[in-house]
Amino acid sequence: MSKPFYITTAIDYVNGQPHLGHAYEKIITDVIARARRSLGQEVFFLTGLDEHGQKVQQAAQADGKTPQVYCDGLAADWQAFAQKLELTNNDFVRTTSTRHKEFVQAILTKLHAAGEFYQKTYEGFYSAKEETFLTEKDRRLDGTFDPSYGEVVKIQENNYWFKLKAHQQWLIDYLEANPSFVQPDYRRNEVLGFLKNNELEDLCISRPLARLNWGIPLPFDKDYVTYVWFDALVNYISVPANLGDAGVLAVSQSAISNRQSAIQLWPADVHFIGKDILKFHAVYWPIMLKAMGLPLPKQILVHGWWQKDGAKMSKSTGNVVDPVAIIAEWGVDAFRFYVVRELAIGPDGNWTDAGFKSRYQAELANGLGNLVNRSLSMLKRYRNGVVPARHDELAPDAAKVVAETQALLEQSDLQGALQAIWQLVNRANQYVDQTKPFSLAKDPAQAQRLDEVLYNLAETCRVLAVLLCPFIPSTTTKIYSQLGLTDSPDKFSAASWGGLQAGHTIGDPAPLFPRKDA
Ligand code: MSP
Repeated sequence: MSKPFYITTAIDYVNGQPHLGHAYEKIITDVIARARRSLGQEVFFLTGLDEHGQKVQQAAQADGKTPQVYCDGLAADWQAFAQKLELTNNDFVRTTSTRHKEFVQAILTKLHAAGEFYQKTYEGFYSAKEETFLTEKDRRLDGTFDPSYGEVVKIQENNYWFKLKAHQQWLIDYLEANPSFVQPDYRRNEVLGFLKNNELEDLCISRPLARLNWGIPLPFDKDYVTYVWFDALVNYISVPANLGDAGVLAVSQSAISNRQSAIQLWPADVHFIGKDILKFHAVYWPIMLKAMGLPLPKQILVHGWWQKDGAKMSKSTGNVVDPVAIIAEWGVDAFRFYVVRELAIGPDGNWTDAGFKSRYQAELANGLGNLVNRSLSMLKRYRNGVVPARHDELAPDAAKVVAETQALLEQSDLQGALQAIWQLVNRANQYVDQTKPFSLAKDPAQAQRLDEVLYNLAETCRVLAVLLCPFIPSTTTKIYSQLGLTDSPDKFSAASWGGLQAGHTIGDPAPLFPRKDA
């Protein structure tokens, strides 16, 4: 059995409702997953929720609920949200699930036995908000700490620490020898810069029960729970272990029940994450895996952050984009299209309502929507919906775009792929304007030319449906059904020219993206 392409998202904290940033990350991952499947690869796409730790405990408290009841309620909302986005995730991990907790404990037991942890009393500063220890180095010039840390208190505490320091040079060498491990390049350089200019501190992996109880109990000391990041990162292997991934199971030596089918998932092909959690994924996680004796993920792919109207999104100021409201008004595909098309994977983005509406109008309604609607309407009107004989005038344009799109999808350059695909949308719309089928229809002597034009247009619509299927799946299913095709546009191989057969009768055209002039 070949190893599936294994792709993950960050798992979100359940301390509120999902926003644009969460939605963006999941949609990009979904498009990559769908594209790989379309290209014939088996894919395993994992997403889920990070439910332990101080942030969640505090949010539950503020809501007057126990953390578990609070998480259960929100987990239902987040899972419904994943469906709204039309994600094709193969599993959904919750870090409070027994399958995950047992595995984390098995790993902790193993690493403890291997001497990877030690106890130490720490005296210094602590940010409860960020759940992190701070040192003198973190102070600003005026002696204060960055407001993002919230209240910073002085504490003295005995904890368990994981030996990171010893692996610093190994990690630098690894990053240098494997340029594609962290992408884009400027994020890789950021990690290398950090590692070369700072001495790594060991990582505190426990929190005393007296201070925080919402976490996975340390299996070797009942007075502590596990630090939330040590728990959360393990989700990427706890799910494979539970599905019977022998490579991962061998490491944990855990007695995990309910093994379903044997599968090989680890190492992940892509961890898709935001820039703020790069250190956890590119420094802590590789060293944790090394200590476990597991291979590293093939790639950590890092995206930027969305702002709204040039400012940080924040619930307190009301400056947020609510994906649910956008989807209710404009449809899920308009939302999926916009976030992928607007922002490349890497830089920060800026949401404006005007920008969203303008792409909707220009690219979806007037571009793709108009092309499909007029192509199929004319075929219906002039030829009763019956596809004429094959004709290859636009075939070279289509073939060029198909090849470009495939190469870009294989590099996870989704924005580039949409730009390539729109070359074909624009070419076909231009072809309508140049060939003027509505004029040809008035002249019986031009009947054959009209047949040719109508074939080229309908076939281009079909090819576009195949190319766009990973991005806007529902719309492309509609295009296929309006073309009267009963199969699905989800196989990239179907993008080769000539799929529409002469004599085939199409279905009924209907607008894909209604204009919203008001
Ligand atoms: N729970 C941790 C991740 C653990 S992964 C083992 C966490 N959760 S989070 O809810 O704060 O963020 C989840 C993801 O959403 C992160 O990748 C983060 O970068 C992303 N985003 C949160 N806000 C964002 C924007 N405004 N824009 C784009 N992505 C953003 O961190």
